[in-house]
Amino acid sequence: MALQTVNPTTTKAWSKLLAHFKTIEHTHLRTLFADDLGRASNMTVSWEDFYVDYSKQRISKETVELLLELAEEVGLKDAIDKYFGGDVINQTEGREVLHTALRASENDEVVVNGTNVMPEIFQVKNKIKDFSNRVINGELRSYTNKPFTDIVNIGIGGSDLGPAMVVDSLSFYKNHLKTHFVSNVDGDHVNEVIKNLDPETTLFVIVSKTFTTQETLSNANTIRKWFLEQAPQDAVSKHFVAVSTNIEKVKAFGIDENNIFPMWNWVGGRFSLWSAVGLSISLAVGFKYFDELLLGAHNMDIHFKTEDFEKNIPVITALLSVWYNNFFNAESEAVIPYSQYLNQFATYLQQGIMESNGKSVDRNGNTINYQTGTIIWGEPGTNSQHAFFQLIHQGTKLIPAEFIGFAKPLHGNQDHHDKLMSNFFAQTEALMNGKSEGTVTKELQDLGLSKEKIEALKPFKVFEGNKPTTTILIEKLTPQSLGKLIAMYEHKIFVQGIVWNIFSYDQFGVELGKQLANTILDELQNENVINNHDESTQNLIKHYQNLR
Ligand code: F6P
Repeated sequence: MALQTVNPTTTKAWSKLLAHFKTIEHTHLRTLFADDLGRASNMTVSWEDFYVDYSKQRISKETVELLLELAEEVGLKDAIDKYFGGDVINQTEGREVLHTALRASENDEVVVNGTNVMPEIFQVKNKIKDFSNRVINGELRSYTNKPFTDIVNIGIGGSDLGPAMVVDSLSFYKNHLKTHFVSNVDGDHVNEVIKNLDPETTLFVIVSKTFTTQETLSNANTIRKWFLEQAPQDAVSKHFVAVSTNIEKVKAFGIDENNIFPMWNWVGGRFSLWSAVGLSISLAVGFKYFDELLLGAHNMDIHFKTEDFEKNIPVITALLSVWYNNFFNAESEAVIPYSQYLNQFATYLQQGIMESNGKSVDRNGNTINYQTGTIIWGEPGTNSQHAFFQLIHQGTKLIPAEFIGFAKPLHGNQDHHDKLMSNFFAQTEALMNGKSEGTVTKELQDLGLSKEKIEALKPFKVFEGNKPTTTILIEKLTPQSLGKLIAMYEHKIFVQGIVWNIFSYDQFGVELGKQLANTILDELQNENVINNHDESTQNLIKHYQNLR
């Protein structure tokens, strides 16, 4: 069954939110706290090892009630049932959206086209388990009978960002295998990666759902050529494996049938790290941790599917994002993990969030006249405090931010961790409270400055605060908690798409550039006459041809 197609701006809740917004838009967070004792406890969701405090958001109890009304009116409950139930909710591509099935239990039943897909999923999971165990313990060997030392994941977009982010985030749990990622078609990327590798002990994992992606196939071909400069032809079957839905194309590339890890069209590229796309993760940290990652995500799936909306983490965080995007007209959102391990987290989320919800046509096929997909960005704290935080504190733009922190350090360096976490707490406090005129005056007086000097400096030093944040405090960074966190954002994306009445699971916007690049490539490589472009593009191509 198709998703409902409610234009959110026509709902009763939307009109009420518009009116309510006028009453609250200038209210300071300090006032909201003063007027509502117990606000922090009431606006916190404590679930398993997650503690999510959204009390530092520019909302009141009424805002939450109205946002929840909006969720009801757009049919969120019905949409969640269709999402998990395997309905074709990716209507424009005619597909189910079932990454949640990849982490479901073996005895669950998920039916696609009349067939329960769980046995197939577990068959592939067992293949991942068996293969990664044998590579890690040295049973599977190179063509010269040596154990593998290095793994190279060749893929792009969802076939790169998910595995790369998870492997980096779980560095603490890594085994002896060194993992590398090649994605960009920029030849300098692949050359930088292979220059220090020994083809004799390196295993290559080609990941491409379609197996037609220019970047991935170019990199795979370049690597195979480099490999064959040293190794004999029959060594390819020992060193190259592939993950794809396109079995024929993989075979045509020369990959041994036993070395193919299948995936399915009902898994979107940007949600695919739970499938065999995560093979590099399983190789890097072992299948046990890969499975724990999946278990964490599954627990979040259950929370999302069954918890009441007012205590439902993905629902609440998604609705808050709608609140800022559509009522405050915020232009972007920041995600700031206070863990260096999550260095690639925001980059990963950029694909998930912006490729999914960067849409301007609604589910009725009409052009949208309200804001949809949020711009997402971020870097780990405390580094980011010394980079862009000035703008969040004192700039002219409103940037709601999600702070993610872990209570326990992995290496046990408590002194460092207390320093890290004191910054974590201090920033959201500072963003909320700002710095008052009284405090600034007192500070400058204490420094012994003259009255005139104090008056001159004051405007620059006073700032209003009232900058909204949500704090996600997690007990410890583990494969399970990371799985929960990623799944939380996947469901947040889903909820936003439902509210905005858009299709979150296609990505037609990225196709045009690919088509034009193919035309231009032909012109560049075959020296064809260029006469089809605008003047600017034509001049640029000519200039490049003169310089190359
Ligand atoms: O960027 C467009 C896209 O289709 C993504 O959605 C996908 O993750 C990526 O390209 C890679 O595609 P494939 O896995 O088919 O090579």
